[in-house]
Amino acid sequence: MSSHSVDENPTECVKSVDASCSVSENDAYDFSRLPDRPRNLNMDRDRQRSFDERSLDLPCFSPPMSSRADNISRIDHFESLPFSPALRSGFDTPRSQFGHEGYPMMTEAWDALRRTMVYFRGKPVGTIAALDSSEEKVNYDQVFVRDFVPSALAFLMNGEPEIVKNFLLKTLRLQSWEKKIDRFQLGEGVMPASFKVMHDPVKNTETLIADFGESAIGRVAPVDSGFWWIILLRAYTKSTGDTSLADKPECQKGMRLILSLCLSEGFDTFPTLLCADGCCMIDRRMGVYGYPIEIQALFFLALRCALILLKQDAEGKEFVERIVKRLHALSYHMRNYFWLDFKQLNDIYRYKTEEYSHTAVNKFNVIPDSLPEWIFDFMPTHGGYFIGNVGPSKMDFRWFCLGNCVAILASLATPEQSNAIMDLIESRWEELVGEMPLKVCYPAIESHEWRIVTGCDPKNTRWSYHNGGSWPVLLWLLTAACIKTGRPHIAKRAIELIELRLCRDNWPEYYDGKVGRYIGKQARKQQTWSIAGYLVSRMMLEDPSHLGMIALEEDKQMRPPLRRSASWTF
Ligand code: GLC
Repeated sequence: MSSHSVDENPTECVKSVDASCSVSENDAYDFSRLPDRPRNLNMDRDRQRSFDERSLDLPCFSPPMSSRADNISRIDHFESLPFSPALRSGFDTPRSQFGHEGYPMMTEAWDALRRTMVYFRGKPVGTIAALDSSEEKVNYDQVFVRDFVPSALAFLMNGEPEIVKNFLLKTLRLQSWEKKIDRFQLGEGVMPASFKVMHDPVKNTETLIADFGESAIGRVAPVDSGFWWIILLRAYTKSTGDTSLADKPECQKGMRLILSLCLSEGFDTFPTLLCADGCCMIDRRMGVYGYPIEIQALFFLALRCALILLKQDAEGKEFVERIVKRLHALSYHMRNYFWLDFKQLNDIYRYKTEEYSHTAVNKFNVIPDSLPEWIFDFMPTHGGYFIGNVGPSKMDFRWFCLGNCVAILASLATPEQSNAIMDLIESRWEELVGEMPLKVCYPAIESHEWRIVTGCDPKNTRWSYHNGGSWPVLLWLLTAACIKTGRPHIAKRAIELIELRLCRDNWPEYYDGKVGRYIGKQARKQQTWSIAGYLVSRMMLEDPSHLGMIALEEDKQMRPPLRRSASWTF
């Protein structure tokens, strides 16, 4: 199977852009929409703010606002938190004013993270997935898009945006290559799962090689890569105040290409995105095909980020309109049909089946007999979560950590739902956090079901790897969700657990067992996103204003009722 190589002109990829002209373009855009805005605010803060307000001001997604007071009150509250990247001291060493000296693991983690940096023609462009030379490399020697996200956040939080900017520009260049699997050409907007730098010692050249799924085990499609790319572009913009990168015509085009893939019209009857198995962090056959929560939550967050970043020019305007419509439909669908709590479970348990027409209560014709036994014990009286998947006669009741945390960060979950997710984590701590945070999904599938669902996958045996394994990387997502819901003590508890073992165990990729007690069967050591995830969690807990990079406030105009009812039309 061939991979695609990119031989780039080094001067082209990291050209600096005149930030001032691009910024003034944006300010004009935003200020014209907010005529009463006080003019004496700090310019940098204004520039960053404008990015969040743009999403909140759009018609449809938010109906036009009536007063200036409204405008001001709807400014992203994360902006008012005191942190400013400009205040940072040195770039090479982690900042010391937050006193991480108290956490020796932070110093170890920074050293370990820096060793994973990948350079292309002298410039840092990403971090390698794992630095473990004891195991067969497979593709762990590549820069994965999803794996780079926590690294990128750590660098941004530490005032080192350059590597993130280079990464965004490099992957954008890769997107534009022709992508083929055998004789089939992939969509133009597809972003790679991973890439690596090839050195030719004879010619003394460096080339990039990317994998869009054509080399990946099982030929899985990295649906999440494009979404993470947009989310990271917004994190970069928010953190640095540099709007010139997102404003570049090639970045605008890259976003539009990603959006074209997921907003195109087809045969769909749902606003959720239909996916093949292994399309995300769980990149093997694990029964996540259909409408997996991880993708739906990332889709929602990426749409909201794109709404902030897209210019409303001739080409962008149409996308903005389509995004607004999709966000409405998607939030309604997810908040109603993916949501499960005690009452909802009881309703499903009593469902009638074979209902025809729009008056049906059991719209997806879920057969109560298909409810797994574990769910009745697992569901606490207080608490709830977005289930793994919903489709015709299908509800996958498994808990997936990443999708639920991203749903909180994106405000796909209402504040009540976000709190309920946190309640669930607290009351099911043993199951979802155990001895080593955090379970990628719960529960594991075993025996006959494992044979059917995974195709007898020996890596995904019960309570291992993607099948109920515990992944330290998920800690940063939990921490962010905890801070957003005002419950940092939950994150603190999880971080303290991680600090007992992660560094001592040499940063494993995942842990196995019901409570995550054992280093994973085939887990890589020195796994970069385990290192970076820890750093991001600690830094966010020390300075919660970092949360603004990765979280969005709820659009209050978009709140549907929580419960479904027979009278709603579908
Ligand atoms: C595994 C994980 C995937 C990750 C990759 C590199 O395949 O399932 O999510 O991106 O390793 O770390």
